[in-house]
Amino acid sequence: MTIETNRTFLRVGFSAPHDQDELVGRLDHPAFLGAEDDGDRLTIWLDPTKLGPSDVGAWLRHRLGVPIAELEIEDVSTTDWLEQWRASLEPITIAGVVTIMPSTTEAAQAHTDIVIALEPKMAFGTGHHATTQLCIELLLETVAPGQQWTDLGTGSGLLAIVAAKLGAAQVVALDSDPDAIAEARENISANNCDDTIEVRLADVTVDELPRSDGIVANLHSEHLLQLGQRMAAALSPGGVAIVSGILTSQSKQVEAELTRCGLSLLAKRERGEWVALHFSKR
Ligand SMILES: C[S@@+](CC[C@H](N)C(=O)[O-])C[C@H]1O[C@@H](n2cnc3c(N)ncnc32)[C@H](O)[C@@H]1O
Repeated sequence: MTIETNRTFLRVGFSAPHDQDELVGRLDHPAFLGAEDDGDRLTIWLDPTKLGPSDVGAWLRHRLGVPIAELEIEDVSTTDWLEQWRASLEPITIAGVVTIMPSTTEAAQAHTDIVIALEPKMAFGTGHHATTQLCIELLLETVAPGQQWTDLGTGSGLLAIVAAKLGAAQVVALDSDPDAIAEARENISANNCDDTIEVRLADVTVDELPRSDGIVANLHSEHLLQLGQRMAAALSPGGVAIVSGILTSQSKQVEAELTRCGLSLLAKRERGEWVALHFSKR
């Protein structure tokens, strides 16, 4: 991927008297890129093209709903941001089975069945977000060898790679962001999944979805609400859909809409303020 070296990001540091993971779960906004918990202070990274520096304080107070102190907002260049963001990422193991290793760490540290090397860049999907983790946990319980899967909003390509490593015969990974597509391709190659995963630039709310035994979609709830009919139509009989990106307050609405479209709820998982839903096609 070509990184625009003249782009800047906002590094926002503050202290708040609350569980930091829970606070991060409340920061659902297109500008939100990531967070770093350094004990007493929380540092978050924002895209200033989507949220201006003068709006950050009011937005944080509104979203967090707790007092915040010692707010510091700083512009950092893309390269600085990437360096600091990468340095802060630790390997993460999910369900004792999948370890995601940022490329800055040594592969020898991982002892799980599946080890995925990921180059942390701009795309969402390092494995550190609750929604990605919930999707991976459900993929581990669901993917059967030989199946066809589709990853809607693949970001870094992580969920597609997990499906491939679990034995899916073919995975189609779709995203509408060309930068994410480039990153997903790099990560898929680095994990030797080129033969299994096809990456395509697509708007999943508009473009045709491939026929699938399973769909995983970690997208905003507004998108999931538009996708019920299309996911149900793309799934083979008995096919399954794993969806996340849903806040607890939105879960009932997403469940009702997907049920209306012909899917039956099999399981619901929650972590912090986030929910993942697992459906099968009726
Ligand atoms: C929350 S991230 C999920 C990334 C990764 N799948 C994960 O679970 O960590 C959502 C991704 O969906 C993509 N996206 C958002 N709207 C989309 C749309 N209409 N069509 C395709 N991709 C979309 C974004 O570019 C982003 O990469």
